[in-house]
Amino acid sequence: MDNDKSYQLLLEGNKEWSKAKLATEPEFFNNLTKGQTPHYLWIGCSDSRVPANEITNTKSGEIFVHRNVANLVVHTDLNLLTVLNYAVDVLHVEHIIVCGHYGCGGVVAAMNNDDYGGVINKWLRNIKEVYALHSEELNAIEDKNTRANRLVELNVIEQVKNLAKTSVVQKAWEKRALAIHGWVYGFNNGIITDLDCMINELNDLEPIFRFKIADNSF
Ligand code: CO
Repeated sequence: MDNDKSYQLLLEGNKEWSKAKLATEPEFFNNLTKGQTPHYLWIGCSDSRVPANEITNTKSGEIFVHRNVANLVVHTDLNLLTVLNYAVDVLHVEHIIVCGHYGCGGVVAAMNNDDYGGVINKWLRNIKEVYALHSEELNAIEDKNTRANRLVELNVIEQVKNLAKTSVVQKAWEKRALAIHGWVYGFNNGIITDLDCMINELNDLEPIFRFKIADNSF
């Protein structure tokens, strides 16, 4: 049986994009080869409907991006920590944005008791912890969609805190300004809402999570 060849449309699309880009901005690719100086680190959901550059109307080179299922900041996730370490210590980004989205499949999946298989269960467990932390508020919301949307927001707020709990972020705060923001995107209207849960200093964090940063801290 022939394999589906639709993936070739992506390569054709790429050629058309490159040509159109060169026509309107002849120096576009030359400039990209000089390196990147993004000011923002974006931690978003892997959902195909939440492309960071497109929904913020930004170009290649402007946002350093990490995406995973339900935009989680898990303190044992080496992939995320590497991205964070590089963005903060090498690229010197000034803002980190955690952007969730309403209707997030990962969040909805975490709200029921189904068994999704080993690794998915472990990942969703992090969202269940957020639910448990805010169960009083969430259980009081009768409508399931409204409850899921509130969990999407609370999940973003907890991930903002999780970033602040890392020594990478706390070490940066000893030397310079670094703000962590929590946003939610709605693909019903294309609008991003700022949840106003910004953290930019150690005092915003519960004392138990504040490190006395050592000189050789990693
Ligand atoms: Co999602």
